[in-house]
Amino acid sequence: MSLPLAHPARAQAQVVDLILLGARGRVGTALRQRLASTRTLIESELGLHLRLHAACDRRGFAASEAGLDPLSLEPALRPREHGDLESICARRTGAAGPSVLIDCTASDEIAGHYPQWLRQGLAVVGANKHAGARPLAFHRVLREHALRGTWRYETTVGAAIPLLAPLRDLRLRGERVRSLRGLLSGSLSFLLTRLHAGVRFSDAVIEARDLGYTEPDPLQDLSGQDVARKLLILGRELGFELEAAQIEVQPLSARTDIASDALHAELAKEDAHWAQRVQAARARGERLVVVGELGPAGGRVGVRALPASDPLASASARENVLEIHTELQCEPPLCLRGPGAGAEVTAAGVFSDVLAAARVLLAHASASGPVTQPSPRVEKRLPA
Ligand SMILES: NC(=O)c1ccc[n+]([C@@H]2O[C@H](COP(=O)([O-])OP(=O)(O)OC[C@H]3O[C@@H](n4cnc5c(N)ncnc54)[C@H](OP(=O)(O)O)[C@@H]3O)[C@@H](O)[C@H]2O)c1
Repeated sequence: MSLPLAHPARAQAQVVDLILLGARGRVGTALRQRLASTRTLIESELGLHLRLHAACDRRGFAASEAGLDPLSLEPALRPREHGDLESICARRTGAAGPSVLIDCTASDEIAGHYPQWLRQGLAVVGANKHAGARPLAFHRVLREHALRGTWRYETTVGAAIPLLAPLRDLRLRGERVRSLRGLLSGSLSFLLTRLHAGVRFSDAVIEARDLGYTEPDPLQDLSGQDVARKLLILGRELGFELEAAQIEVQPLSARTDIASDALHAELAKEDAHWAQRVQAARARGERLVVVGELGPAGGRVGVRALPASDPLASASARENVLEIHTELQCEPPLCLRGPGAGAEVTAAGVFSDVLAAARVLLAHASASGPVTQPSPRVEKRLPA
């Protein structure tokens, strides 16, 4: 007698359409590779077919009802035209079947579309930090979608290290968090590690940029704003009602605008200052690290000199560390750490969010038909 199939009902996979923004960027490319490499596993284990319905960046656009080949996007792409993205999203209402929009850009403009896309029934998954760090009024609109699991952004802080979900759990179980302290920028950790290894500031910045560890314009990393955005996202997960202005930022460079070809020469003017700071810290047995600190009333970002024994000072280059000081876990605090940057690891985290969002959409569709607006009943029932 033959054994029954483990999942006879899954002979036909349920289709979830994906719209990928930033498809040829570092994270977008790694995500397409992961979509292809996990396809058989996801279909056989979950009965789910994640179909790449559309993909674009600023330059190109492709869409196919039958699905695009994630590994061979280039031949399908044509120059992007005004309105392409808007029209593909407008057609993917909840009634058109479950669709997940994946934002692998760093665009604030794209983040501004989230409320509309979520309202019309798409799930939105993003590595883009801008949505979570926009003004509170905007964030409150999105929060209800996060609570029902259709807006997911776990990789916006700490790449694939699970940081946001544990914070959400602490809040929901009523464990008051007093403060957070962490290393939240893999690129800045790399930079300061190189300074301690004796590399000049200007050379270390260019090295980090050329290795793809910084944003294309490294001044964005040096501004400290990226860490400030991450602190806001973390704090809001804990229910801290904070605006960006409540986070004080000490930039690593006072410069805000340097042409790419002048970057090295201009930053070289700060080499002596950094060499002196590193030398002074080393003489005291300390290390320079960029620390983000946050409490319910606000936070700050800046370079601190910490004793070598401090858990933040012992982190390796590109590692992220988050200490969570709660009323129950204080001495020592709860501590989460791991690789906090890298396209592959970030794409892996985004993929987990895509899977979770797809399953939420399918569960809603089978329980109540296509969903467009969150109802108060669902919001109360469904923690993310
Ligand atoms: N790389 C990492 O280690 C890492 C870690 C954690 C989080 N993240 C976050 O993940 C996101 C992607 O990072 P990345 O390293 O992949 O960046 P990237 O290599 O610079 O790629 C960004 C992509 O976004 C596209 N894009 C920008 N504006 C767009 C728009 N308005 N519409 C459609 N596409 C647009 C770009 O297209 P064009 O080429 O046409 O401009 C490019 O394909 C960022 O938000 C980043 O902060 C990255």
